[in-house]
Amino acid sequence: MAAEENGRASWSGQLAFVLAAAASAIGLGNLWRFPYLAAKYGGGVFIAIYLALSLTLGFVLLVTEIAIGRYARQSQLTAFGALGHPKWNFLGILATVVPLFILPYYNVIGGWVVRYFAAYAGTAFAGATTLADPKTFFDAFVAAPWAPFVTMCVFTAATLVVIVFGVKNGIERANLVLMPALLLIAVALAIYVAALPGAGEGIRYYLVPDFSSCGNVGKVVLGAMGQMFYSLSLAMGIMITYGSYMRRRDSVPKAAVRIVAADTFVAVLSGFMIIPVVVVFASAGAEEGGKVAIDAGPGLMFETLPKVFLSLGAAGPWLGLVFFTLVLFAALTSSISMTEALVAAVCDFFKVKRHKSVALVGLWAVAVGSLSAFGYGRWSGLKAFGLPPLDFFDASMNILTPVVAALICVFVGWTLGPRRILAECQRSGERVGFRLFYAVMVKFVAPLLVIAILVSEICRMFKFRGWSI
Ligand code: PHE
Repeated sequence: MAAEENGRASWSGQLAFVLAAAASAIGLGNLWRFPYLAAKYGGGVFIAIYLALSLTLGFVLLVTEIAIGRYARQSQLTAFGALGHPKWNFLGILATVVPLFILPYYNVIGGWVVRYFAAYAGTAFAGATTLADPKTFFDAFVAAPWAPFVTMCVFTAATLVVIVFGVKNGIERANLVLMPALLLIAVALAIYVAALPGAGEGIRYYLVPDFSSCGNVGKVVLGAMGQMFYSLSLAMGIMITYGSYMRRRDSVPKAAVRIVAADTFVAVLSGFMIIPVVVVFASAGAEEGGKVAIDAGPGLMFETLPKVFLSLGAAGPWLGLVFFTLVLFAALTSSISMTEALVAAVCDFFKVKRHKSVALVGLWAVAVGSLSAFGYGRWSGLKAFGLPPLDFFDASMNILTPVVAALICVFVGWTLGPRRILAECQRSGERVGFRLFYAVMVKFVAPLLVIAILVSEICRMFKFRGWSI
């Protein structure tokens, strides 16, 4: 096959790799988490800190994972052992456990997006009134006996179809359609929103640094760092697996810079899309007391925004439809990357054919996903540490990802040696000018910062509010 290098599938070029990694990075985190955090932590203050962090720490972690993958030519599960350090195989297992448990519940949320997409299509084309009361709609949907399970299966099936076609014919092709469409929709929506009457106030709210409302600087930094982590799909084995398909002649640092730039661009753009509409809506008095209420996660996406769309009259359902198309594409490409990291791990470890591995991963995603899908409805009695399954998986992953990231830094900084990663970066024939910076970051700065996120997550889990973000 033309797309192979040393017997392993490979991307057809630098652009295909960057597109795939950016497609993984750009997801729900950009669309619902970044705007919410920016609104919460003083607008421009948060944005500036986020930019600074992603260009330093984010860049270093991304280069590290991609280079490990390309060096080992293995997915995360077997990469550490393949680099001559079998004692570190446990880290491969940990890095595989993360997507193993995130994928099933991410697909449940993907299913929610499918449901909203269908509801807006019905409203826009057939005048359905299913979304007349978004909160009741959401609560009834997640508690319904079958609907969340069925939509999860639809979403999972869509990702599996892409994966079964392989790296080049499946993932690359899907990205070639989904990513430009996603960008186009995001830019168009941001322009539409900027033209709404009163949008200026919202844009100011988003961009102008507000030192009085951002609170403790430490918290802003922690919030930005946690967000950057999730947003760049770090510590989930994905960038290692995707790096393992990268051609030797392509540049790792250049790719990393482009991935960070694309991911940050879409995050900042989402703020332009979401914050002004919520601010305009709130100051129109539709929200209690005209107070700006930019919610986190599901609340923002599945309740606040639908309420805003409702207030926009005839344009509302169409905007809703376009917006949920965007969210659907972003969620699909992220789920595809997680599925690929698992499929590759099963192929590398058990030496089975791709389609068998896809079937296994699909079965796993549906079986474990059903716990989360039914967790607010027919199995609502099912709790882990007092949390519904979806929330429990989410909370545990927030703890496990910093552990994996810190261990990767320790492995590279103190066992493998930063030089090996830098040498891998130089394989493309370029001079790498950030050697000292890289070594200091990966040995000292990155592990310490990552441990700070870990402590903050643990505090949040155990509700020591003073220390958590
Ligand atoms: N990076 C994705 C985002 O910003 C999230 C993601 C999580 C992707 C886990 C893959 C795996 O939403």
